Amino acid sequence: MTDTRATLSDEALASLPKAELHLHIEGTLEPGLAFELAARNGVTLPFASVEELAAQYDFSDLQSFLDLYYATMGVLRTADDFTELTRRYLRRAHAQGVRHAEIFFDPQAHTAHGVRFDDVVDGIGTALDEARAGLGMSGALILCFLRDQPVASAEEALTAALARTDRIVGVGLDSAEVGYPPSLFAEVYSRAREAGLHVVAHAGEEGPPEYVWEALDLLHVERIDHGIRSIEDERLVQRLAADRIPLTVCPLSNVRLRATPDLAGHPLLRLDDAGVLVTVNSDDPAYFGGYAGQNFIAVRDALGLTEERARRLARNSVEASFASEERKAELFAAIDTWRP
Ligand code: ADE
Ligand code: ZN
Repeated sequence: MTDTRATLSDEALASLPKAELHLHIEGTLEPGLAFELAARNGVTLPFASVEELAAQYDFSDLQSFLDLYYATMGVLRTADDFTELTRRYLRRAHAQGVRHAEIFFDPQAHTAHGVRFDDVVDGIGTALDEARAGLGMSGALILCFLRDQPVASAEEALTAALARTDRIVGVGLDSAEVGYPPSLFAEVYSRAREAGLHVVAHAGEEGPPEYVWEALDLLHVERIDHGIRSIEDERLVQRLAADRIPLTVCPLSNVRLRATPDLAGHPLLRLDDAGVLVTVNSDDPAYFGGYAGQNFIAVRDALGLTEERARRLARNSVEASFASEERKAELFAAIDTWRP
């Protein structure tokens, strides 16, 4: 199907109610806040200025981004830092139509340099409570295991998570993908599922379709994060569509990390046309040039986006979310009454 180009304005796409399902809170750390927190916490960043840090945002692949991402997040030290980071993200996201946000966080990266697990969870949680009260937003936390760290470390993170199910609704798997297949984490995921947590995993971002199969068949995930390389395997596309397994796709991220050569060749709409439940998300918006609404705008500009398709993508994000049935009904109603 060919969409008509530029039928929807930027304002219309920013006002479309949506859920954000693939967002690393550490990836919302803008250069200005990084320097503010570095000064407050006595941490030295390996860059002389905000401009010099921002000039590093030219990535050749996932690893080149992760190196900067882990170095910069070292400025986050206290619960207040995580509150301020999350508060700024939620305000921006709300201005771009996000009404429900499921937020990833990488606790192993913080506890490794002495930050307390509960400070991370409580800090983010405080901002989520504020956004619920002040902006009418809903949200939750998903702990991501770093797949390039030992499995024993993921086990420890899971144990910590199980004491905080007041905030944490699920677990995911992120960081360097190739060489770290989902199968490594089968036992950790089994324990998480038995404890009643939701389960998702990054797969098929840089890694092959086989990693998506493993995430489905060995980790029994409910959603695949990215999953764009599924397009290389017709049988996998059919499986995703038949089982209504959502893909949380991040168009601007995929271009910036060169998972796809350009947006015009991005498989998002081909996957949608094949009946896969795809959603549009921002991944690490401070690094990749755009929050949720800006990802919709980029898709419109490169691939075309009809009103019908935009509304379907937004409905998909709610359907794929872990929000309560009551909250989903509210969000579906808001999307159905959206007038561009
Ligand atoms: N951590 C933060 N962003 C990520 C991405 N796009 N892929 C894997 N791990 C990540
Ligand atoms: Zn991600």
